[in-house]
Amino acid sequence: MILSTLLTVLTISPWHGALAGQIPTVNGILGGVPTIKPDTFKGADVLPLATTPGKLRVVENSGVCETTPGVFQASGYGDLTATESIWFWFFAARNNPDTAPLALWFNGGPGSSSMIGLFQEHGPCRITNDSSSVTLNPFSWNNNANVLYIDQPVGVGFSHGDLNVGTSQEAASDIWTFMQIFLADSRFSKYAPNNLAIWTESYGGHYGPTFASYFLSQNAAIAAGKLTGIPLNLKVLGVGDGLTDPLSQYPGYISYAGNNPYHALVSTSTITKANTSWTSSTGCKAQITSCNNGGSNSVCSKAQSFCNNNILSPLAGNFDVYYVPTANPDPYPADITDYINSLKTKIGAEATWKETNNNVYNNFAATGKNSRPLLEGVINAGVRTIVYDGDADFILNFNGVEAMVANLNMTFTSLLKQQAFQTYTVAGQSAGQFKNAGTFSYVRIFGAGHEVPAYKFGKLAVGQAASQMFEQIMANQSLSST
Ligand SMILES: *[C@@H]1O[C@H](CO)[C@@H](O)[C@H](O)[C@H]1NC(C)=O
Ligand SMILES: *[C@@H]1O[C@H](CO)[C@@H](O)[C@H](O)[C@H]1NC(C)=O
Ligand SMILES: *[C@@H]1O[C@H](CO)[C@@H](O)[C@H](O)[C@H]1NC(C)=O
Ligand SMILES: *[C@@H]1O[C@H](CO)[C@@H](O)[C@H](O)[C@H]1NC(C)=O
Repeated sequence: MILSTLLTVLTISPWHGALAGQIPTVNGILGGVPTIKPDTFKGADVLPLATTPGKLRVVENSGVCETTPGVFQASGYGDLTATESIWFWFFAARNNPDTAPLALWFNGGPGSSSMIGLFQEHGPCRITNDSSSVTLNPFSWNNNANVLYIDQPVGVGFSHGDLNVGTSQEAASDIWTFMQIFLADSRFSKYAPNNLAIWTESYGGHYGPTFASYFLSQNAAIAAGKLTGIPLNLKVLGVGDGLTDPLSQYPGYISYAGNNPYHALVSTSTITKANTSWTSSTGCKAQITSCNNGGSNSVCSKAQSFCNNNILSPLAGNFDVYYVPTANPDPYPADITDYINSLKTKIGAEATWKETNNNVYNNFAATGKNSRPLLEGVINAGVRTIVYDGDADFILNFNGVEAMVANLNMTFTSLLKQQAFQTYTVAGQSAGQFKNAGTFSYVRIFGAGHEVPAYKFGKLAVGQAASQMFEQIMANQSLSST
């Protein structure tokens, strides 16, 4: 197989956070940039299949994962072309599916599968700690929403085909096309008028704003008669532990490594050295600034490489970058690879599932600019937006995310600046701190790592705090304590 050869060449080894590892390690550097030119990577790792371009291929009610009686589910492919197939898994809402909103879920990477979200975070079932089976999740996000998990771009997870996507813009275009195919299908067309949401995490800090912005511009083109298609009724955007604006967010590594709710990650001298790598005239800050100011892919790629080599990677210390209370690698959340591959026949999957496709990651590694302006545009267009994070995550830590939020230049900026943090209580238990401003909200969830809904805190159950957040925002409400 192509991938294993390339893996040897690149010596990509998942020594950082092997189990929750959504961000590849390249030549020992977390989030590093490979030295092979991106366009070397093409092709699929599955045999030619009987695809149906422009249509879905669906297995209904496989009985896997969602075992609540009477809840519809479907899994399968939307074939963009004969050689580009997007994997999806749809779960109808446990309550009132016909009127419930539709939420799309995307994990990040780039190159990581959304089955992570399904089985480790907020799906109808969650993987057991020994990876052998699943248990029903009472705090599943499909309690009151229809949820559609999508493996993208092509090549990720169970999706398969030609790897033509190397930017969030290209990914957005494919997902818009996928949604046209999905909502044209008689099984799912009834959801087209319902409110639509995009929820995403990690590199989704780029995907979320880019997809949302693209959906809105396609809607405008349809309304203006310039394009034929089904309008996507986008009302909500949720971004968890996201990378949106590197310039705002990279100093967060330096603050968090020295001072966070758990323990310092590295020595003071390592922090001082990383700080110099940030501030020096040829340092990370200067390089990201050049990237943002119209820099070429090569400038941006060098910035990512330099910053991750000199700041992100060394500051992680010996702790799991996705959950710093534990040493690296934290075995939780448990690996899903063998379990998910054992389901293939039942659910209609055709590729061999891997958590992250490094070829897809490599295609993206030449980019990675600032998506904050797109996020501002989406908020200003009236899409209810929440940014959230777990306070135990280093790799997209709250210091960085809160700096990004503080720099948002949007309709609600002055309102947001007037807000002080309020305690977010869930069933009477303090679970985080939040701010609301207009239809924008931010929350930091206590005790949660990178995959926020995978964690518990105090007397709350796994995923309980995240579920309250999701339900409030999906109901078009600001956050409020209960
Ligand atoms: C699974 O492991 C996590 C992390 O160690 C722990 O918090 C949780 O209680 C475990 N779950 C069960 C059912 O033992
Ligand atoms: C980083 O360097 C700047 C400028 O020299 C300094 O103001 C700041 O306190 C330093 N931060 C840390 C965490 O050492
Ligand atoms: C915020 O956006 C407005 C309108 O686009 C612009 O005029 C203003 O300069 C921006 N402010 C900052 C601090 O970037
Ligand atoms: C959501 O709430 C906002 C603010 O209250 C309101 O302006 C908007 O119309 C609501 N959207 C929907 C879809 O109900």
